[in-house]
Amino acid sequence: MNQDLQNYRKSYEKGELNQSIVCDNPIEQFQQWFKETEASETVAEINAMTLSTMGTDGFPRGRVVLLKEITSEGFIFYTNYTSEKGISIEAFPHVCISFYWGIMERQISVKGIAEKISEEKSTAYFHSRPRKSQLGALVSEQSSPVESRNVLENRLAELEVAYEGKEIPKPSHWGGYLIRPTAFEFWQGRRSRLHDRIQYIQEGKEWKIQRLQP
Ligand SMILES: Cc1cc2nc3c(=O)[nH]c(=O)nc-3n(C[C@H](O)[C@H](O)[C@H](O)COP(=O)(O)O)c2cc1C
Repeated sequence: MNQDLQNYRKSYEKGELNQSIVCDNPIEQFQQWFKETEASETVAEINAMTLSTMGTDGFPRGRVVLLKEITSEGFIFYTNYTSEKGISIEAFPHVCISFYWGIMERQISVKGIAEKISEEKSTAYFHSRPRKSQLGALVSEQSSPVESRNVLENRLAELEVAYEGKEIPKPSHWGGYLIRPTAFEFWQGRRSRLHDRIQYIQEGKEWKIQRLQP
């Protein structure tokens, strides 16, 4: 198997990136790449991103979550505030999100500070979700151990009956985080491993843009 892995090689040739063509604002650059990837209709879950946090045990941890909104302030995703990631963010709000759109030979990573969004906004989003997803959020004590799948299935069945025809209340421990970005990196694969890496670093209200070595 090791032999095979060593032979996996790909030459990246689909695009290029340089300081003269990127947007001054990295969120606009992100939106441009997002739209291009969306238009290509080649990426199954384009809004899936790896969220990395620093755990209270000293270990970093990454897991996939779904980007649900991009605003001029940053990136919003939804989760359980008492999950492992919620506890990590409470202790260390410095996080990183990254996107890999292989077919486009592109990677984006964003460092930023996470904060809870308002209860009103979380509640509005919660009620826009399918009822089954809303009930799922009530059922799951995300990241806690559970004896068996049956326990979850039974809880779901009970809640389906209890809330039939009624509005499902958003649990107070469920909601969104806004990640306010402080640094971005846009990576475009190039030939001979001389990839393009354009970094944005926040300096006051401005963004400093520089090329990084591949
Ligand atoms: C494609 C995909 C999308 C996911 N989206 C979310 C999400 O938006 N919110 C969430 O809490 N978990 C989401 N998950 C599950 C997380 O990866 C993770 O298992 C869960 O949030 C628990 O993480 P934690 O124990 O580190 O807190 C998603 C997983 C995948 C594979």
